[in-house]
Amino acid sequence: MLRKLVVGNWKMNLTPREGVATIEAFVEAVERCEEVQVAICPPYMTIPRVHPILHGTHIELGAQDCFWLDEGAFTGQVSAKMLAAEDIQFCIVGHSETRGRFGKLDIPESTVGFFAETHETVNLKIKALLMYSIHPILCVGETLAEREAGTTDSTIRAQLEGAMAGIDGSELEGFVVAYEPVWAIGTGQVCPSDEAGRICRFIRDWFRTTYGDDVASLRVLYGGSVKASNAKELFAQEGIDGGLVGGASLVAKEFSQIVDAAWR
Ligand code: 13P
Repeated sequence: MLRKLVVGNWKMNLTPREGVATIEAFVEAVERCEEVQVAICPPYMTIPRVHPILHGTHIELGAQDCFWLDEGAFTGQVSAKMLAAEDIQFCIVGHSETRGRFGKLDIPESTVGFFAETHETVNLKIKALLMYSIHPILCVGETLAEREAGTTDSTIRAQLEGAMAGIDGSELEGFVVAYEPVWAIGTGQVCPSDEAGRICRFIRDWFRTTYGDDVASLRVLYGGSVKASNAKELFAQEGIDGGLVGGASLVAKEFSQIVDAAWR
């Protein structure tokens, strides 16, 4: 059976100093739980500060995004090559917040376009990460409007087809997909566990049909308002191999309870 994976996505939260304090508390709270693979994706600035603390623990380090070219005049960007030089093991790509598909807008809609990446940029980022042996965590998921229109499955299929174009099955060792319904992110409105399980199985079936047995090590996570109180039920669903956790990963005690829920 695949080992469950729980990933904390800190998004744009915690200063480097706060991040160090939180990681120190994590290491104490989470370390005993080796049955579950655990990774934290802090903001770029925090990565070099927390790296030495995680050294020698079984908690791994991820990034929240990357750029697909190695270097050049791309102000504000960080390349997969740079992440590899910092020994980053995972990188989130295609998060709904970088695709510009926000569930709940508390910023002017006119700014959303600045983040908007396409199927093509997600695909380029995955290829760059694979070149540097960093495991992508590919996020897919439908908006509320797409769910209400009955196009959830076709939306996710299109995201998978776009993201995976030209990628060979031999490159998929350790690949991760996260099903994150946009309407469940940061809203407290978790997807019903049986439906989350159904979509995660749908995603695995797509990979199996496309790549055959090459995807034996693929993990499909659920993300969207995962909390200590709902994690056990979600992780018990057939097809859900762990979680991608936002807000609840910022507090060591809550996050460690979510990790516990993945194996107890
Ligand atoms: P929340 O857990 O805060 O809903 O965020 C989920 C998410 O977007 C993780 O990537």
